[in-house]
Amino acid sequence: MATIAEAPLSFASLPHPAPTPADVRASILANPGFGTQFTDHMVVIEWTEGQGWHDATLGPRGPIALDPAASVLHYAQEIFEGLKAYAHADGSVALFRPEANAQRFNASAQRLAMPELPEELFVEAVKRLVLADREWIPAQEGASLYLRPFMIATEAFLGVRAAKQYKFIVIASPAGNYFKSGAPAVSIWVSDYTRAAPGGTGAAKCGGNYAASLVPTAEAFARGHDQVLFLDAAEHKWVEELGGMNLFFGFEDGSLLTPPLAGTILPGITRASLIQLAREEGLTVREERYSIDQWREDAASGRLLETFACGTAAVVTPVGKVASPDGSSFTIGSGGPGQTTAKLKDRLVAIQRGQAPDPHGWVVKIA
Ligand code: PLP
Ligand code: COI
Repeated sequence: MATIAEAPLSFASLPHPAPTPADVRASILANPGFGTQFTDHMVVIEWTEGQGWHDATLGPRGPIALDPAASVLHYAQEIFEGLKAYAHADGSVALFRPEANAQRFNASAQRLAMPELPEELFVEAVKRLVLADREWIPAQEGASLYLRPFMIATEAFLGVRAAKQYKFIVIASPAGNYFKSGAPAVSIWVSDYTRAAPGGTGAAKCGGNYAASLVPTAEAFARGHDQVLFLDAAEHKWVEELGGMNLFFGFEDGSLLTPPLAGTILPGITRASLIQLAREEGLTVREERYSIDQWREDAASGRLLETFACGTAAVVTPVGKVASPDGSSFTIGSGGPGQTTAKLKDRLVAIQRGQAPDPHGWVVKIA
């Protein structure tokens, strides 16, 4: 669905009757965890066929009324994004590459037959929420404000076709480490299930992809692992990605490899940023297929020194161990963080947090 050329929207501000008291907020921010705590506000923008985007509000966060026949509840017409706001030491607030999230959101919208949101409107909605909730950005190392823009089909209609009514919403959640264990490296369970097939929705950030990952994720957790790994649908041989992260492999010759964007994995913004940073460091980065058998063999021979997961929520997280349903498992390097992983993580985080120059213009200061 094409974007309708629209006049800039004005946002109505709805007053909050009872914002969270400062002492309660402070105790939440001291140990935010991931995804369980939410700020006081949200942005909502409506879309109606023939009218386009309208009725933008910034108001108190709270339940939304939906007709029980709303398409999202039946056919899962939903997409989302994830990005973070950081409190910089100079008192400013910054987003990391929000335009990239806006672009990916529209790519997801196209795949799910949903209306595109003008990129400036996506970024403005996120900025307005962050400014309203700026007191909610944790300042400690490793913590940030996780932003979750999403769109749902709200039309009450049970026939199967693209809906004619949608809501775009942005909520925010103070976030610390994604992984509860806090271990120096995570353990991965190789799933027998398939996440995405060629021609499917693997490259879109839609809720349905994650719904399909929940059984394999539960299996991983039940066996004591931190994340699930998916292989390709056709041969069940090629490493694709984790339930919520992309993967990189680091070799003894200093080179890196990451699976290519062939339509079945999410084009991660962290992935793209790390490829660029690594190449600027003089490292060779190949976007090539890598088989699970080769991975095991390279880990055993010592040719492979490191593997790490990356994403907005996970940042850069070393992978220490890999286990498969056939009972086999292997350890990568010493099972802890590798040197290249640590170097790239430091480079990325320093840019995101305003502690290093930002030559690519990735950091968008909003206050
Ligand atoms: N792959 C999946 C399935 C994800 O859910 C995510 C997280 O957003 C990523 C990869 C990493 O993407 P990004 O770096 O843009 O957060
Ligand atoms: C993100 O990193 O933003 C994600 O969406 C991963 C997630 C499933 C929390």
